[in-house]
Amino acid sequence: MALRCDLIIRDVTVFDGTGSPRFKADVGVTGERIVAVGDLGGASADREVIGTGKAIAPGFIDAHTHDDRAVLCGPECMLCKMSQGVTTVVVGNCGISLSPARMRTRPPAPLDLLGDESWWVYDSFGDYADRLARDPSPVNTYALIGHMSLRVEAMQGDTQRAATDKEAAAMQKRLAEALAQGASGFSTGLYYPPNMMAPTDEVIAVAEALRSAGGIYVTHMRNEANDVLVSIEETLKIGRDTGSPVVISHHKCSMPENFGRSTETLPLIDRGAANQKVDFDIYPYAAGSTVLMPSRLRPDVPVQVTWSVPHPEMAGRMLADIAKEWGLPAKEAAEKLLPAGAIFFQMHEDDVQRIMKHRLAMIGSDGLPHDSYPHPRLWGTFPRVLGHYARDLGLFSMEEAVRKMTGHTAAVFGLVDRGEIRAGAYADLVLFDPATVRDAANYDAPTTPAEGIVETWVNGQSAYVNGQGATAARAGRLVTRNRA
Ligand code: ZN
Ligand code: CU
Repeated sequence: MALRCDLIIRDVTVFDGTGSPRFKADVGVTGERIVAVGDLGGASADREVIGTGKAIAPGFIDAHTHDDRAVLCGPECMLCKMSQGVTTVVVGNCGISLSPARMRTRPPAPLDLLGDESWWVYDSFGDYADRLARDPSPVNTYALIGHMSLRVEAMQGDTQRAATDKEAAAMQKRLAEALAQGASGFSTGLYYPPNMMAPTDEVIAVAEALRSAGGIYVTHMRNEANDVLVSIEETLKIGRDTGSPVVISHHKCSMPENFGRSTETLPLIDRGAANQKVDFDIYPYAAGSTVLMPSRLRPDVPVQVTWSVPHPEMAGRMLADIAKEWGLPAKEAAEKLLPAGAIFFQMHEDDVQRIMKHRLAMIGSDGLPHDSYPHPRLWGTFPRVLGHYARDLGLFSMEEAVRKMTGHTAAVFGLVDRGEIRAGAYADLVLFDPATVRDAANYDAPTTPAEGIVETWVNGQSAYVNGQGATAARAGRLVTRNRA
């Protein structure tokens, strides 16, 4: 009997996510899975898409996001990602997760990246998972539990110090509970006050919960500037001491005096990788973005404001111009803007390219979806890697670009049956035009949708169609490390 599918995409160039050379085939989908890849001339389907001249890849996995809240607010909220071909987001990064933590007043920075106290209503990860199940996102969610979220609760807000043994034990217990409820790992943001007060031993004590659960450790390291090598050593030690795989978040060499030092950091990571599991993610831009911290401003790092509670009208403007207008030194102008967020032009393009090209690199946007004038990485990351870096600059092949967004990422995070195009895998798919795909968002127009992404499917359902936007589908689900 002839094969009958829900969907067949015909005569399309397949990038299968493994890095293998592209090939021409038909791809058949039934229900939530890919059922066949090859010549499906004898098969028929309810919907047939002619893919001639187009490419299909596994849906992109955004290895680093702050979408904890965005996945709860419906298809429109995830348009920034689905319009790039993203079908799975890793939330809870940089020590910041929406659960388990309840806030009665505005959460301290950087937790407020996720919103004011009205969003902090999940006493347990289980409550957050229930909400996602009741009110599903259009994309899949993979969740980490943030160190700072645990600290605020365990230390009752008194976080400008190291945790006591008792407090660390309480955090470990909460982490273990979250892992049992479907979370996949633990993240830290040791760069940020007040988390920088946490010594390595505190992190190890909490992360011990990862061992028996088989969880992953992910970190915005203590230092990405002068002490970046020491921080990589600290990260590797935390992984070894807890028997956990580690991911270095948004790897970079920050500040002008450290430009070029990826020639030191990458060999150190390579040496670590010979003995333990270590990988990293990167966003394809030479500027970062986070909360505005006046004490860390430097005259040689330009700053662009992304949001401000007292001065929302300043979003998008350069801090130097605001300071001039107000007749204030930059630091005082920054203080007047708080709480606020900003973009920091603090990296060198040579490091960005060297790090992105490395075999262990995964692509993660680190996009900040609630900023009023976000860093363009929120809308542009994946098409920028495919278009600008792979096709236009030839930094690596498009096969390799896709692997860094799919197969490699799925393997690192333990996303079972995702990140590859093969019979039996989930039908998370993106159809795109390899000749025209490109990012269109930039620092002057940060929310412009990417071009060349034709359609995105999540678990077999169409989630985004170019020219039409998000569909009504909410086929995403919570996905857990190494769980089918
Ligand atoms: Zn971070
Ligand atoms: Cu981040």
